[in-house]
Order: sequence, then structure tokens, then C-alpha cells
Amino acid sequence: MSDLSKSLEQQGKDAGTYRIRRMEPHDIHTVMMLDRLVFSDPWPESAYTQEIYFNPLAAYFVLEFTHAMPHWRWPWKPRNATLIGFAGMRVEQARGHISTLAIHQDWRGMGFGELLLITALEQTMAMKASAVMLEVRPTNTPARKLYSKYAFISIGRHTRYYQDGEDALLLEVPRLDAAYAQKLAECRQRVEQRIEQLVEKRIQERLSAQDLLSRQ
Ligand SMILES: CC(C)(COP(=O)(O)OP(=O)(O)OC[C@H]1O[C@@H](n2cnc3c(N)ncnc32)[C@H](O)[C@@H]1OP(=O)(O)O)[C@@H](O)C(=O)NCCC(=O)NCCS
Repeated sequence: MSDLSKSLEQQGKDAGTYRIRRMEPHDIHTVMMLDRLVFSDPWPESAYTQEIYFNPLAAYFVLEFTHAMPHWRWPWKPRNATLIGFAGMRVEQARGHISTLAIHQDWRGMGFGELLLITALEQTMAMKASAVMLEVRPTNTPARKLYSKYAFISIGRHTRYYQDGEDALLLEVPRLDAAYAQKLAECRQRVEQRIEQLVEKRIQERLSAQDLLSRQ
């Protein structure tokens, strides 16, 4: 491997990686900022606090992208983590409920929303729910397409559910069984591969842009 490709590979590693982890109390304020950016009716702090501290049948996840601080000249580089998405679920009377899901708009279309949904669905199954439901705006085409990919079907409508007066469609996966678990495992593998490729592409684009700038 040439010195140049070694250096590019190292820069690529420094340039970033992502991970999904459980939401911690110290994440709440950052999650709330993203919530306000994405939704017109964001949750109050008390809703997050209630779910994270007091609901043993709830699980919330954050997706963060970590990257080395650019232009740091020491051999070790401090890493900077950016929270780019979150999702949550709870179980009520053996039925799961996907309570929230959001990706920062700069990071959409790369598979991250799908990966967070898979994570929330896997958690729902791990908590032994036999079905799972959620609410979605009828006008929210990206989310509806994502949910139909995961076999959610429409089972009803809540009139004037949202603060601006829009109805909510009630969607459900009626049976969370072994076949569904298998589908989730296959989808996870496919989505993770897709994300790896897209993140790699983004990093290469960034490195080429840096390279061009440094030559000027
Ligand atoms: C819905 C949301 C989470 C999707 O996240 P994302 O990371 O952009 O989505 P992904 O890249 O993982 O796409 C997964 C699937 O979602 C659907 N989808 C995503 N964006 C779409 C778009 N702009 N148009 C149509 N379908 C879309 C597709 O089915 C896609 O699968 P495909 O790539 O095989 O076609 C994101 O758009 C978001 O945060 N929206 C605002 C918040 C929100 O509406 N949350 C849901 C509340 S119910």
C-alpha cells in the first residue's frame, strides 16, 4: 500500500463512523433540540424523563456519528460525536408502540431511519410484544413508505390527533413471530451494508474536497 493510500485510509477511519446506543439522561437536551428541528409538536422534557427514568417497558435509542476533530496535529485525535437520530418504543399490555423516530435532515436517505426502526422493532420483540403499532400523519410519505416496507398495515384513524389538527393513521404489524424476526435480521444486514457504502462514499467525497482545497 502506498504512503498516500495509507494516509487516505487513516483519514477515512478518522473521518467517521456511526453507532446506535441506548438514550441516556444526558442525551435528553440534544434529543430535544433535534426533536424541535424535525417535528412541529416536539415532546416536552418531562415526556423523555418519564420514559427513560420511570418506564421499565420503554427503550429509547440514539444514533450518533463520531469523527476525529479535523486539523488536529497530534498523533491522537479527540473524537467528536454528533447525534443525528433517535427512536423510541414502549410495550403496553403485550403490544409494542413505536413512539418516535427521527433523523436529522442532512443524514436522511442513507438507511439510518430504517436501521433505527429495525432496532426499535427488535427491542419490541425482545420485550415479548406480540404486535406493534404506531401513529403517522397521512401526508408523511417517507415514513409511510418506510413502515409499509416493514409490513405495517392501516387499522384505523385518530381524528385531529396532532396539535395542528391533522388526523393520525394507526398502523400495525399484527403478528411479531419467528418469520418477522428473520425478516428483521435480513433487513439489518442489507441496511448496514448500504450504510457502510454510503458513509464510505461521503467520506471519500469529503477527502477529495479537502485534497482539492489543499492543492489550491
Ligand atoms: C421517516 C424518516 C425517519 C426516514 O429516515 P431516512 O433515514 O431518511 O430513511 P431511510 O434512508 O432509512 O429510508 C428507508 C425507507 O424509507 C422510505 N423513504 C425514506 N425517505 C423517503 C422519501 N423521501 N420518499 C419516499 N420514501 C422514503 C423508503 O421506503 C426507504 O427505503 P428505500 O431506500 O429502499 O426506498 C425521516 O424521513 C425523518 O426523520 N422524517 C421526519 C420525522 C418523521 O416523520 N418521523 C416519523 C414519524 S411517524
